Amino acid sequence: MNSVAPLTKRASWRSLHDHFGKIQGQHLRELFAQDPSRGRTLGVEAVGIYLDYSKNRITQETLKHLFALAQESGPRSAIEAMFRGDAINITENRAVLHTALRASRDANVQVGGKNVVPDVYEVLDRMGDFCNRVRSGAWKGHTGKPIVNVVNIGIGGSDLGPVMAYEALKSYSDRSRKFIFVSNVDGTDFAEAVQGLDPAETLFIVASKTFTTQETMTNAQTARDWLLEGLGAGHEAVAKHFVAVSTNASKVSEFGIDTANMFGFWDWVGGRYSMDSAIGLSTMIAIGPENFLEMLAGFRAMDEHFRNAPWEKNIPVLMALLGIWYNNFFGSSSIAVLPYDQYLKRFPAYLQQLTMESNGKRVTLEGNLVDYDTGAMYWGEPGTNGQHSFYQLIHQGTRLIPCDFIAFCNTLNPLGRHHDLLMANVFAQSEALAFGKTIQEVRSEGTAEWLAPHREFDGNRPSNVLLLDRLTPPALGKLVALYEHIVFTQGVIWNLDSFDQWGVELGKVLAQRIVPELESPATPQLHHDSSTNALIERYRTARHRG
Ligand code: F6P
Repeated sequence: MNSVAPLTKRASWRSLHDHFGKIQGQHLRELFAQDPSRGRTLGVEAVGIYLDYSKNRITQETLKHLFALAQESGPRSAIEAMFRGDAINITENRAVLHTALRASRDANVQVGGKNVVPDVYEVLDRMGDFCNRVRSGAWKGHTGKPIVNVVNIGIGGSDLGPVMAYEALKSYSDRSRKFIFVSNVDGTDFAEAVQGLDPAETLFIVASKTFTTQETMTNAQTARDWLLEGLGAGHEAVAKHFVAVSTNASKVSEFGIDTANMFGFWDWVGGRYSMDSAIGLSTMIAIGPENFLEMLAGFRAMDEHFRNAPWEKNIPVLMALLGIWYNNFFGSSSIAVLPYDQYLKRFPAYLQQLTMESNGKRVTLEGNLVDYDTGAMYWGEPGTNGQHSFYQLIHQGTRLIPCDFIAFCNTLNPLGRHHDLLMANVFAQSEALAFGKTIQEVRSEGTAEWLAPHREFDGNRPSNVLLLDRLTPPALGKLVALYEHIVFTQGVIWNLDSFDQWGVELGKVLAQRIVPELESPATPQLHHDSSTNALIERYRTARHRG
């Protein structure tokens, strides 16, 4: 439990409030004019990431107050509690130790009096061995053919991490194999995924922490039927075509997968923090064990930076504080994440679960309703596509949407002028957002008076630019860990349990209740509200179920 004062009663919060009154009207044009060196001084470089945060609506005084907020909110001790394995997920009484998944082999992380690092490496080594067998063709399907198609079946953290990482690191992947991700309970997802696949060459990875998730278990059963029917084989074929990734060995064997073909992890790994665990099996098959371990090293580098760097040089802490500045003082409700790299096309979707399932909470650790806003909505698309879609609203709309631009100095696909053009766009966008174009500038171009307001850009729209060298496995690890730690820092300041997700439960329970009402041949007695009853009746009629 947090022993510090409630957020809005903290001295630093009140100072920030007063300071906001003074600074909110200041334009980034003025801030840059007052301090021409700002573009260099408000930048920080660590573990191969350069963060330019100069185009934020802050001064040195803002930073002083934000650091005081960090200090007063106790993240230093919270960080240590997380890394140490304290049960900081208090509503589930669990440790939160995704950092142990990427600890070095000789590290010692105690959970319940036991060092868990040897267990982590035991699983990583088994995964490596399995991946090598699949990649070399030594692992054969039931009919003796090697595996060509790898289908990951999972949802939420058991899907978004694997698919995001596969897409991000495609350039490092084994191109002779096809990697497919099935998540939705909508049968279309499975049907389209297996179009044209030969079951004899297909491996299914059933990835589910609990092994009870409706979507995943339904897809896994459909996959088993598809496989056995396609092979014309009996249950004995399952062992060569199904492996499981889970914390729940009994449910895995109940499903019919031999636990010898199971890769485990632990209840101290949250679903949305699990891509470094065995949930990353598909990633490892795609990019190979060495690259996977390099990705983990990237995570570890960011973990160490987060744990040790002072606030003013700490990239996750700086970004977390800036997020709070806009969320809680400027009233921004969302953050756009705009990767200028096509390989990161699923990164915003990945961040949506990470950020919103973690900090989309309205009660404090003590169970009191908060009197401030918490988690922002994260969204985005890769540049430059977003520019021709929603950027209009970011530039000229009525809402303040802080942006995180992510870009790489070197491309993995050096084709003609493409990369210079891409990078010119990142720099131009953050410049246009910050400085805009005044009405005088518009008029001086000879624009008609009636048209001038439409062509004015008021600017003063904040952004961060994250600049890295190249999208490598460690770079991806650093980026993901960066956002994990932003979420953590904000959760500590907002005094939330960032590691539970009770908000997803009610819908699941109600859906279970409705399933038999849709499927029953006899007309069911419905006891919902009149809207839900009418929708169920309409559906049954459309499906000729009386
Ligand atoms: O959406 C709720 C949730 O529990 C997520 O937190 C989790 O990542 C996802 O469902 C999948 O859960 P599992 O891995 O247990 O199937």
